[in-house]
Amino acid sequence: MLASGAAVVLWDADAEKLAEAKAGLASRSGVTTHVVELTSEADVAAATESVMQTQKKIDILVNNAGITGGNATTWELAPEVWRRVIEVNLVAPYLVCRAVVPKMLARGYGRIVNIASVAGKEGNPNASHYSASKAGLIALTKSLGKELAGKGVLVNAVSPAAAKTAMFATMTQAHIDFMLSKIPMGRFLEVGEAAAMVAWLASEECSFTTGSVFDLSGGRATY
Ligand SMILES: NC(=O)c1ccc[n+]([C@@H]2O[C@H](COP(=O)([O-])OP(=O)(O)OC[C@H]3O[C@@H](n4cnc5c(N)ncnc54)[C@H](O)[C@@H]3O)[C@@H](O)[C@H]2O)c1
Repeated sequence: MLASGAAVVLWDADAEKLAEAKAGLASRSGVTTHVVELTSEADVAAATESVMQTQKKIDILVNNAGITGGNATTWELAPEVWRRVIEVNLVAPYLVCRAVVPKMLARGYGRIVNIASVAGKEGNPNASHYSASKAGLIALTKSLGKELAGKGVLVNAVSPAAAKTAMFATMTQAHIDFMLSKIPMGRFLEVGEAAAMVAWLASEECSFTTGSVFDLSGGRATY
C-alpha cells in the first residue's frame, strides 16, 4: 500500500504492536497509528472521524484484526471465549463497515477487503468459534458486496490458510501441524503473498469483482 503511494492508518487495540509495526515501516513515510478497540462502536466512530479530519477521505478499508480464541472441541470452549471470537472477527468488521461505508458512498468510490480464512469455508475441528466467525465474515462480504454493487464500492474477502504470525502462539502445536498437513503445497503462507493479493483487491484495477472470496490456501480450498 505504501509503495503504491497510499497514506496508511493502522488501527489496533495493542499500542505496543502498533509502535512495532510503525517502526518496521519507518523507511517509508505515510503511516499513522490509532489505538482502537474494534469491538467498541464509540472507538470505531471516533477513529473514523479522526481519519476523515486528517486524510479527508477513505479509499480503502482492510478488516484484518482477528483472534483465534485457542483450540478445543466445541463443547469444551467456554461461552465467553466463543462470543469474544465472534465479536472481534465478525461484529468488529461490521462496525467498521458501518462507520466507513457512508464515507465511501459519499464519494462513490471504495475498496473493502476482509481477511477471512479457509477455516470459514471448511470448518476446522477444534476451532468452531473461529471457523464460524470467518464463515460469517465471508457472508457479510457477499451481502455488503451486493448492497454496494453499482455504487463504486467493491467488497471482497481473502481466505488464507495458515501463516506463521503472532497468532501461532495462541494455537496448539497439534492444530498448527493439522493446518500444515492440509496444505497441498506443503508450506505455510508468506505474509507478503497475502499483502500482494490484498493490494490488488484494494486497487482500481479490481473493477468487476465484488462479494467474492479469493483463495490463499496453497491448493487446500476446493471451491
Ligand atoms: N496467521 C494465520 O495463520 C491466519 C490464517 C488465516 C487468516 N488469518 C487472519 O489474518 C488476520 C491477521 O492475523 P495475524 O495472523 O496477522 O495475527 P496477529 O495476531 O499477528 O494480528 C492480529 C492483530 O489484531 C489485533 N486485535 C485483536 N483483537 C482486537 C480488537 N478487539 N481490537 C483491535 N485490534 C485487535 C491484535 O492486537 C493483533 O495486532 C486475522 O483476521 C486472522 O484471523 C490468519
